[in-house]
Amino acid sequence: MTPHPAARIRPAEKADLAAIRLLIETAFGTRYDPVEPEHIWTLFPVDRALVAEVDGRLVAHSQTGPMTVTVPGGQLPAIGISGVAVAAPQRRRGLLRALYSEQHRQFAAEGIPLAALTASEGGIYGRFGYGAAAREHRIRLDRRFARFLPTAPDPGGVYQVSVPEAEPEIRRIYDTWRRVTPGAQERPDAAWALAFADAPRLRNGGGDLFAFLHPDGYALYRHHDDQSIEIKELRTLTADAHAALWRALCGRDLSHDLVAPVTGDDPLPYLLVDPRQVRTVAGYDTLWLRIMDIPAALTARRYDADLETVVAVDDPFLDAGGAFALRIRDGVAECAPTAAEPELSMGLDVLGAIYLGAHPARAFAAAGRLRGAPERVRALERAFAWRRDAVLGWGF
Ligand SMILES: CC(C)(COP(=O)(O)OP(=O)(O)OC[C@H]1O[C@@H](n2cnc3c(N)ncnc32)[C@H](O)[C@@H]1OP(=O)(O)O)[C@@H](O)C(=O)NCCC(=O)NCCS
Repeated sequence: MTPHPAARIRPAEKADLAAIRLLIETAFGTRYDPVEPEHIWTLFPVDRALVAEVDGRLVAHSQTGPMTVTVPGGQLPAIGISGVAVAAPQRRRGLLRALYSEQHRQFAAEGIPLAALTASEGGIYGRFGYGAAAREHRIRLDRRFARFLPTAPDPGGVYQVSVPEAEPEIRRIYDTWRRVTPGAQERPDAAWALAFADAPRLRNGGGDLFAFLHPDGYALYRHHDDQSIEIKELRTLTADAHAALWRALCGRDLSHDLVAPVTGDDPLPYLLVDPRQVRTVAGYDTLWLRIMDIPAALTARRYDADLETVVAVDDPFLDAGGAFALRIRDGVAECAPTAAEPELSMGLDVLGAIYLGAHPARAFAAAGRLRGAPERVRALERAFAWRRDAVLGWGF
């Protein structure tokens, strides 16, 4: 693709903020709530962002901010990318590629092992080495027909608490939860401020947030006019907290459907007499990861099965791939570049997708995107699977 011939890529400045805001609002077709920009630019400082200018007009923007992301058994520093927008008249002229090339060169120079984003469309970021590393389902459960099994835990301990009163406990529970949940990020004050500001434009037409609080979990939810309840965030540290919060939600008279994002390993259906009442209405990716430093990322996580292999990784975007000797013993990995013959090969996007255990290696093998003897693919899959599903902690 020919890059826009007249474009000038440069670091953003404070004086650009109004133009950046207009660019983002126009690209996504929604105005920021007045409380949002301050927090967004705290998370993604303007002096880290890049813009593209054509004829003195700002036509493209991409912002980045530091994050800490949990990986199986550990945590890694990461960089999050957000607010990516190219003005419609200048699209498909290589401006995103130009901004990304510069930004990823900078991430590599900074030694950042992971880059993270959430994608507006699924077809954009694979070419840049990103894989969908966490996914979730949207479920609908008509609470009027949800009957819990007699054997299902009924521990109680849930109280209706105002959101401001619940906030300190919610923050404490989240922080404990995110440390053991792959994909979940540390949540800075500005990200909490955005969550509790609960901008009307992000409410899907629903009302204010309400909270249920348990000593080991919380649910933030809102009502909609169609008598449904949207569960915005439900985080639990124990199975008891999970069961108790779902019982409390199912106890909400004067409402019908409960709509919630859940992971594939959520036990809700198994608590009910009729598991079919939990209807999956959508499945989608959440967190996308590009592994910037393969040895650093693969040795940062823990594993549940041993493995000794050589993996070739292809990175057409930055040419940062190569062959890596991977030796996993008792959950701990050693990984280093090697000249040895690879047994397995895949794109960097596939490595990102399997990194947190969200996708089985055999599915990518069946799609021809991960190559190796079936026994080696199975061994890779066993090693990379993890005890709990990956979750995006907070959206950005
Ligand atoms: C998505 C967006 C940023 C792309 O910007 P752009 O400048 O048109 O992208 P580029 O011209 O640099 O394209 C880079 C590559 O991505 C591909 N691409 C761009 N947009 C794509 C899309 N929506 N779906 C699939 N591929 C896409 C291009 O074909 C090109 O491929 P190639 O380099 O491998 O040939 C722009 O269309 C936009 O602002 N969209 C609305 C807001 C949005 O969705 N932002 C992303 C938030 S995560």
